[in-house]
Amino acid sequence: MKSYQQLADSVKFSRSLNWTRLIEKDDNLEFIGAGRSAFAFRVKGTNLVLKVFFPEFKKIAREEAEIYKALPDHPYYPSLYGSGDNYIVIDYVQGLTLFECLAKGVPIEEEKIRHIDEALKLAREKGLNPSDIHLRNIILTDDGHIKIIDVARFKQTKNCTQWDDLKHAFYKFYRKKYFPKKIPVLIMNTIAALYKKRIVRMGS
Ligand SMILES: Nc1ncnc2c1ncn2[C@@H]1O[C@H](COP(=O)(O)OP(=O)(O)OP(=O)(O)O)[C@@H](O)[C@H]1O
Ligand SMILES: [Mg+2]
Repeated sequence: MKSYQQLADSVKFSRSLNWTRLIEKDDNLEFIGAGRSAFAFRVKGTNLVLKVFFPEFKKIAREEAEIYKALPDHPYYPSLYGSGDNYIVIDYVQGLTLFECLAKGVPIEEEKIRHIDEALKLAREKGLNPSDIHLRNIILTDDGHIKIIDVARFKQTKNCTQWDDLKHAFYKFYRKKYFPKKIPVLIMNTIAALYKKRIVRMGS
């Protein structure tokens, strides 16, 4: 079996303005998801994820590894198994991101919102500042549990209101009886883009 570093080195990206394409990777890696700073791969035959950062974001790898070390063995967060200059290795979490839940119409119960709050409170108690909590960074596992799968920005000092805004939208819209529980991806992406540009607000 190749080392995690060798597997991470096998990943080649092509970057244009705000688009990243995967050009090459080792056959032992199965692509499972893309973010703004990294691609995530499942290491075949294991329950592990190798998150490989794009060259300009590679310093986040060390930062994210340190954050996972501050949250050891916690049911709401994956465990860390290794890290290097441009990668981290964490548990593979089987389930759907909340974004996928909305896209597929899988209901999100209020209890899950409380669990996310609990997870974030725990991180705060460890001296972290949970940030960048959006729908693609939270997984509802196949057995109904919540996992936060991206803690890269938990040490930023800037105040992040994303989770408060999402929670507000949950209570104000999603929970209402006639609000659709299945939302087209195009609409969600449009709302997210407008929210980022501060054209729409979700908070109170
Ligand atoms: N441990 C995991 N288990 C299952 N899927 C995962 C895991 N880690 C990442 N993913 C998938 O890969 C996607 C990208 O990973 P991640 O969110 O860590 O990247 P990022 O670049 O830090 O994202 P962001 O754009 O939020 O900064 C996730 O949205 C999710 O779909
Ligand atoms: Mg993410």
